[in-house]
Amino acid sequence: MNEILLGDSVEIIKGIESESVHAIVSDIPYGISYDEWDVLHSNTNSALLGASEAQKKAGNIFKHRGKPLNGWSEADRKISKEYQIWCETWAHEWFRVLKPGASVFIFAGRRMAHRCICAMEDAGFTFKDMISWQKEHAPHRAQRISVIYNRRKDFINAEKWEGWRVGNLRPIFEPILWFMKPYTIGGTLADNVRDYEVGAFYNELWKKYTLDCSNVLMVPTEKTDHGKHPAQKPVAVLEALIGLVTIEGQIILDPFCGSGSTLVAAKKQGRKFIGIESNPEFVNIANERLSDVANSESENFNGININNITLFA
Ligand SMILES: C[S@@+](CC[C@H](N)C(=O)[O-])C[C@H]1O[C@@H](n2cnc3c(N)ncnc32)[C@H](O)[C@@H]1O
Repeated sequence: MNEILLGDSVEIIKGIESESVHAIVSDIPYGISYDEWDVLHSNTNSALLGASEAQKKAGNIFKHRGKPLNGWSEADRKISKEYQIWCETWAHEWFRVLKPGASVFIFAGRRMAHRCICAMEDAGFTFKDMISWQKEHAPHRAQRISVIYNRRKDFINAEKWEGWRVGNLRPIFEPILWFMKPYTIGGTLADNVRDYEVGAFYNELWKKYTLDCSNVLMVPTEKTDHGKHPAQKPVAVLEALIGLVTIEGQIILDPFCGSGSTLVAAKKQGRKFIGIESNPEFVNIANERLSDVANSESENFNGININNITLFA
């Protein structure tokens, strides 16, 4: 307990006791070839994890090219199916280790989330909601198409397509998938909450993070939410999720914990935690971050740190 296990989460989780975990909160690989650990398919077409000259110049924002998706390529079409198969390798184990009525929050990419949802449903979970986490900033990866035509000296099309772009809209929200393990057969949800201490959500906390207790989460990020991991998530966002469905002393599991943001949030809120991570460098970073969370910072059930949270009005 309160440790990070180094290795393959799909294997390590098999050693965790059944019905022992109160919530899983995890930022799983999105399967979009963002980094080596995010390549979960066998497609080796060109551009995988490559970077164009323009991307190299732009630095971290455009670090990797991301595989262009072409509907005509069978290999490309298989990527999302392979992602679902990968999710199926761990979804049943997640189900097994959770208490009845327990929640799972998954940060999943917009493009592949549907495959993760199918794998989780097939493992027995109920898909409860999709929370929209609104970010403050997001890079706009879209190219003005008139610039390309101008470069080709195709001035007719440059003029015709002025103001049009190819690429993506600014991805200002990320989905957080909320699943629940069904509560015990023969009882009610209220019985389940009484017996297993999970299954309800803490409305009083949630309304501090959202407008009108909605499923749109708006939490400002801190400077410390950057620089530890290429896919680092803000601790305050994780605190909101953990505080929504668990109470002090309960166990939070993050099977893909990276630099440990979920674990830091859990520790700050007086929860117990288990992290799993395959990269030893991230395990070291996570352990350093955890040791920086002074025990005095660990808060109790009613003392969740909401004072320095400011909503975007
Ligand atoms: C999206 S990142 C998590 C980042 C984290 N939210 C943070 O704030 O630092 C996913 C992590 O899962 C790890 N990972 C990928 N496959 C894994 C596996 N099979 N077992 C354990 N860890 C794995 C990667 O090394 C990566 O650090």
